[in-house]
Amino acid sequence: MTSLELLDIARTVALEAGELIARRRREGVEVADRKSSSVDVVTFADRESEQFIQSRIAELRPRDGFFGEEGADSSSQSGLTWIVDPIDGTVNYLYDIPQYAVSIAVVDGDTNPASWTQLAAAVNNPVLGELYSAATGQGAFLGESLLQVNNETNLAHALVATGFSYTSAERAEQAAIVHRVLPEVRDMRRAGAASLDLCHVASGRLDGYWERGTKPWDFAAGTLIVREAGGVVGGLGGAPFGNDMVLATNAALFAPLEALIAG
Ligand code: IPD
Repeated sequence: MTSLELLDIARTVALEAGELIARRRREGVEVADRKSSSVDVVTFADRESEQFIQSRIAELRPRDGFFGEEGADSSSQSGLTWIVDPIDGTVNYLYDIPQYAVSIAVVDGDTNPASWTQLAAAVNNPVLGELYSAATGQGAFLGESLLQVNNETNLAHALVATGFSYTSAERAEQAAIVHRVLPEVRDMRRAGAASLDLCHVASGRLDGYWERGTKPWDFAAGTLIVREAGGVVGGLGGAPFGNDMVLATNAALFAPLEALIAG
């Protein structure tokens, strides 16, 4: 199967799951459980969306692996693995802030960003009706429009975004980075969905985004979309992006932003 055919599956299932979560949001959202801290919630809709996506992928690609935020984890017999956040931006979802998404990526390899090759990705914000997608070597799109990262070269004029973990100790470290970056940039946003932050770098709504402590389901799709839009994604000190750090921006801003984040 080509990466364009995989892209077609990612887009179709992201649209279907987007419809499901938007419908459940209109019906009313209930918290099912708490995870890393009392404010890290999972709703019944997160679980239902993950089960739905897993069953659709199993129908269409029965030999592929599957790795989802809410615990689905099946190994791959084909070499390909689907990495899924069934609702990225769950706290926004809980509060009915229209900034949440279904994030679906398919990679060649396992769930380790240091060794996988990303093939195709789709991120769907069902409230805004915005579907971002990319396949390796084929460009990145918002709907049918080709995306290109901004060409800003001056960090002082850059609009950047970040995100925070659910635990207090990690937040204290993240706050120290914000303290260094905020005085040096145009302004900063914290919109609450990592996959969409990455897509917004791809579409030029942001000049840069970084976050410590995210997981493959948060960034597997969005990082491919940034790269296919001509952006650069990495970690600190020449490391590849991963759970420790995802930094996404254009080629000109990467080094100055990295230096500020690293301190
Ligand atoms: C979270 C969001 C948030 C980011 C957190 C993630 P979730 O994902 O992407 O923007 O700052 O690090 O955990 O919990 O809403 O799927």
